[in-house]
Amino acid sequence: VTEPDLKGRHVVVSAGGTREPLDPVRFLGNRSSGKQGYALARTAAARGARVTLIAANTGLPDPAGVDIVPVGTAVQLREAVLKAAEDADAVVMAAAVADFRPETYAAGKIKKKDGQDPEPIVLVRNPDILAEVSADRARPGQVVVGFAAETDDVLANGRTKLARKGCDLLVVNEVGERKTFGAEENEAVVLGADGTETPVPHGPKEALAEIVWDLVARRMK
Ligand code: C5P
Repeated sequence: VTEPDLKGRHVVVSAGGTREPLDPVRFLGNRSSGKQGYALARTAAARGARVTLIAANTGLPDPAGVDIVPVGTAVQLREAVLKAAEDADAVVMAAAVADFRPETYAAGKIKKKDGQDPEPIVLVRNPDILAEVSADRARPGQVVVGFAAETDDVLANGRTKLARKGCDLLVVNEVGERKTFGAEENEAVVLGADGTETPVPHGPKEALAEIVWDLVARRMK
């Protein structure tokens, strides 16, 4: 039986991967499936929380008992997260947000022209939503969690990122050839701004989600 330890709490979870359009039919995207974010949303709802799930291009079935806000781009995800965060006790940024977007959007499909080289794609920076939410807490005591995928020096890079983002917890995944996006399972270390380090053994994304909520619940005011 799940303890309703998040009853009366509002939590916001972002999931999936943003798509940055070049024209009406093309985009720059990433391989995030949204499965970890959905596992976080499901487990929080099972623990009694009111859940707002900001879903970026996931194509997964809607979890029951969760408010879903579909978004496409990083800019849309930012708007949705900031709005939902206004009365949230916790914000968990599991989405893979594009760091850059094409500077221009072509209203019509970009065409190849005979004998001409393609136009270069110029990129501009997207806002860092996790850093922004962490810096401007909508509520005192709001708990903010980020995710990071690292290929090497996982702990050292994770610590640096945690400090730079200013969040309370950073879930650091080691990604590599065998550990790919879209898998059913995950393995991670959860770093706390208070210096704590919680290793999470290889297992279902649900199990990692439960540990994240344990750590979040302990930090809630
Ligand atoms: O810097 P990096 O992309 O590795 O950080 C990953 C974390 O930051 C994730 O929690 C992701 O949701 C968040 N992020 C964000 N806005 C961005 C880029 C990443 O909120 N523009």
